[in-house]
Amino acid sequence: PVQSGQNLRSPICCIMGHVDAGKTKLLDCIRGTNVQEGEAGEITQQIGATYFPAQNIRERTRELKADAKLNVPGLLVIDTPGHESFTNLRSRGSGLCDIAILVVDIMHGLEPQTIESLNLLKMRNTEFIVARNKVDRLYGWKTCKNAPITKAMKQQSKDVQFEFNTRLTQVVTQFKEQGLNTELYYKNKEMGETFSIVPTSAISGEGIPDMLLLLVQWTQKTMIKRLTFSNEMQCTVLEVKVIEGYGTTIDVVLVNGVLHEGDQIVVCGLQVGSNCDLNQSIVNTASDEGAPSQVTWLLLELALHEIDIVESLKTIAQLVIGTYLHHKEIKAAQGIKITAQGLEHAIAGTSLYVVGPHDDLEDIKEATMEDMKSVMSRIDKSGEGVYVQASTLGSLEALLEFLKPSAVNIPVSGISIGPVHKKDVIKASVMLEKKKEYGTILAFDVKITQEARELADELGVKIFIADIIYHLFDQFKAYIDNLKK
Ligand code: GTP
Ligand code: NA
Ligand code: MG
Repeated sequence: PVQSGQNLRSPICCIMGHVDAGKTKLLDCIRGTNVQEGEAGEITQQIGATYFPAQNIRERTRELKADAKLNVPGLLVIDTPGHESFTNLRSRGSGLCDIAILVVDIMHGLEPQTIESLNLLKMRNTEFIVARNKVDRLYGWKTCKNAPITKAMKQQSKDVQFEFNTRLTQVVTQFKEQGLNTELYYKNKEMGETFSIVPTSAISGEGIPDMLLLLVQWTQKTMIKRLTFSNEMQCTVLEVKVIEGYGTTIDVVLVNGVLHEGDQIVVCGLQVGSNCDLNQSIVNTASDEGAPSQVTWLLLELALHEIDIVESLKTIAQLVIGTYLHHKEIKAAQGIKITAQGLEHAIAGTSLYVVGPHDDLEDIKEATMEDMKSVMSRIDKSGEGVYVQASTLGSLEALLEFLKPSAVNIPVSGISIGPVHKKDVIKASVMLEKKKEYGTILAFDVKITQEARELADELGVKIFIADIIYHLFDQFKAYIDNLKK
């Protein structure tokens, strides 16, 4: 149990599951936003972090009349994609979290990426709860907006309750086949050994209060040591984004420690414009001179409905510009946007380090290189293959995973992260003399500069662009089939 006054950080919760199980929609439902409908093909391609302050959770769980004290400052929730190519993103998300929500579509039961997610969680010994989502799709379901699930179930007809129970038994059996005991959360007497199932609807909100309360209560009850705040910094770059008025920014998850304005930071980067191959063009620092970069602003992104939260945070807020709240320092766990010089070279998916007064910069630079090792190993030793380019390290990893020999088997000779520039076209063009079809750039979720496009036309380099991975493959395959004819 928690002692009052204990210094806890917010638990980090990861949402996992099969494609279209409703992971993003569940987050939308808690936030009151609509991110999911804006996604290409309704597929989440990155991991994003959302912070729910304790106050939010208190309001959403009021009807459950739980006298549970909330001792954690909030809950940081990380969304992950369910599409099969994103194993690496799911893996990274699950690596960051203290607890997870495994979302299972009530109409489908366990599916391939549900099982893959389950295996990631087992491997890391991560606690999780099961959200049995889309209960509103049971035939004849009566909507009880945002109601606790037991209250909603009482309103349902015998037929609905029967279908609910039948489908529940089915999924419990499926989990059993995976070696896990599961049970409806309010009947679960052995939490820790038996995993809890929370029925939810991301459309009408039934079961959402139960899900939130269960997450907070369980982490507070069983993870005090882990959640005790530590000054040892642990921080991961999720995304690199250009934001009007701020220039290039990075979105990070601060797992532990404190970030301050003016901190000297080091992140793994790609040097833009260099002609050498990628191996040598990795620079470990975000700035040009090889010196660490300095955090100019720490920002928290706020949605409109969070205005009341702004009020409560005003004591630490410096000023509010647009939707961002500026801070002098931010404590873990939190999802933060950072502005600093040179961040355009930063690679999403890598760790961020702060150079302390007693740290050796060279050691820190070496540490930042670690994260790039896995993608570098994917480059074909023969030197023959297509050139692939993606928006983040995570999406590049996903694309490489998709192309590897045991999957669709397209060899890769070069990689890059960020927009396609002339230098990328030049590198790809080397293949034209060896194997014409490999004189190709597979560009995933990135822009192509006008100059790069002109040069590609001139040299005969094919550039395929898509914001869904398997569409890239379809285009490339059609191109090869055409060449053969
Ligand atoms: P990926 O990010 O692609 O892995 O999918 P996801 O798990 O994030 O699913 P998403 O939130 O994109 O939802 C997929 C579809 O299911 C969308 O059309 C949603 O509107 C719908 N959906 C999600 N949750 C519910 C629910 O509780 N009830 C109903 N009826 N539809 C839902
Ligand atoms: Na989806
Ligand atoms: Mg999604």
